[in-house]
Amino acid sequence: MTILNHKFELAARPVGLPKRSDWKYAEESARDVRDGELLVKLLYISLDPAMRGWINEGKSYVPAVGIGEVMRAGGLGRVVESKNPAFATGDYVTGMLGVQEYAISDGKGLNKVDPKIAPLPVYLGGLGMTGMTAYFGLLDVGQPKAGETVVISGAAGATGMIAGQIAKIKGCRTVGIAGGRAKCEFIVKELGFDAAIDYKAEDVRKALQQHCPKGIDIYFDNVGGEILDAALSQIARGARVVICGAISQYNNTTPIKGPSNYLALLINRATMKGFIVFDYASRYGEAAREMAGWYAAGKLKTREDIAEGFENFPEVFLKLFKGENTGKLMLKVADA
Ligand SMILES: NC(=O)c1ccc[n+]([C@@H]2O[C@H](COP(=O)([O-])OP(=O)(O)OC[C@H]3O[C@@H](n4cnc5c(N)ncnc54)[C@H](OP(=O)(O)O)[C@@H]3O)[C@@H](O)[C@H]2O)c1
Repeated sequence: MTILNHKFELAARPVGLPKRSDWKYAEESARDVRDGELLVKLLYISLDPAMRGWINEGKSYVPAVGIGEVMRAGGLGRVVESKNPAFATGDYVTGMLGVQEYAISDGKGLNKVDPKIAPLPVYLGGLGMTGMTAYFGLLDVGQPKAGETVVISGAAGATGMIAGQIAKIKGCRTVGIAGGRAKCEFIVKELGFDAAIDYKAEDVRKALQQHCPKGIDIYFDNVGGEILDAALSQIARGARVVICGAISQYNNTTPIKGPSNYLALLINRATMKGFIVFDYASRYGEAAREMAGWYAAGKLKTREDIAEGFENFPEVFLKLFKGENTGKLMLKVADA
C-alpha cells in the first residue's frame, strides 16, 4: 500500500519571526521500510522555541536544519510497520520525528511510552522533553534546598510550569513570572506557586523586591532580556542563575545584548550556568520514573495546549513567541 506523506521543509532562513513563505509544504509517497527500520505515523508534533534556533545558520549545540530538509521537531506517533526487533506495530514512541505525517526511523533515539500511565500528549510535555528540562535544570544546575526562594520566568509555559512545581515539591518558596492575569492565576491557583508577577502589567524589579524580600536563591530563566536583568538585581548571596533559554531574544534582528548588571554575580558570589537537556539523555529514565511518581500522586500537574491541523504548522509555531500558549504547545496530526 502506498502511503502519502505530507511534510514541512525549510524553504528559507527566516529574518525575525518565521513567515509562511519560509516553509515549503510538500507531498511525497513514503518509501519502503528496510531491515532495521520502522514506520511511524505521527499523532502529535511538539512545538518548541528551540526550533527557531535550529533554523539559523551558525554554530549551535546541534547542526542547523538545511534548506530543503524536513523541519526538525520532536513528536509522538504510533508504529504502523516495523522491521526492527525492538519495536512492534502498535507501539507508541516519542523522538525527533520531524514536521511530517509519517517518519521512517532506525529506532535510535526513540522511546516507547505507555498510554496507561498518562495520556499520550503528556509524553511531549510534563513527562517528556520539557519536563526533563525542568527537572535537570532545576535540580542538577539549580541545586534547590528547602526554604530557598526560586523565581521562574516563562512560568506558565511547558518548562516553567514544571520547574515551579518541582521547586514546591523540594520545599522552596516559588515565584513565577508570566504574561497576563490568566496565566498568573493559573500558576498560583492551579499549580500552587506562592506568588506570580505579570510582567506585562507590573514593574518586575519592584515586584521581585516585594515577593523576594530576602533575595532570589535560584533564578530559572526561560526568557532572558530585561527580565533577566531585573532578576539579577535581586539575587541573594550564593544564588544560582540557571540559563534554560532566552525566548525574548530568539527573533531578534539586531545583536543580542547581555545582562547589563552581571556584576551582581560578583557582589553576591553567585553563578550563572547554561545547560542543554540532551546532555542528560543517559539519566532520562531516572527522571521519568521520579516524575511519573509525582504525577501519579497528584503532586505534578501537566497542561497541554493542543492545536489542530497539520497544515497550520507555520502559524501555530508562532503562538510560542506571542505568548498564546499555556502549558505545552503541540500540533495534533492524527487520531491515536
Ligand atoms: N536548555 C534546554 O535544554 C532547553 C530545553 C527546552 C526548552 N528550553 C527553553 O526553555 C524556554 C521555554 O520553552 P518552552 O518549550 O517551555 O516554551 P513555553 O514556555 O511553553 O512557551 C514560550 C512562552 O514564552 C513566553 N514568551 C514569549 N516571548 C516572550 C518575551 N518576549 N518575553 C517574555 N516571555 C516571552 C510566552 O509566555 P508569556 O505569555 O508568559 O509571555 C510563551 O508562552 C525557552 O527559552 C526554550 O528555548 C531550553
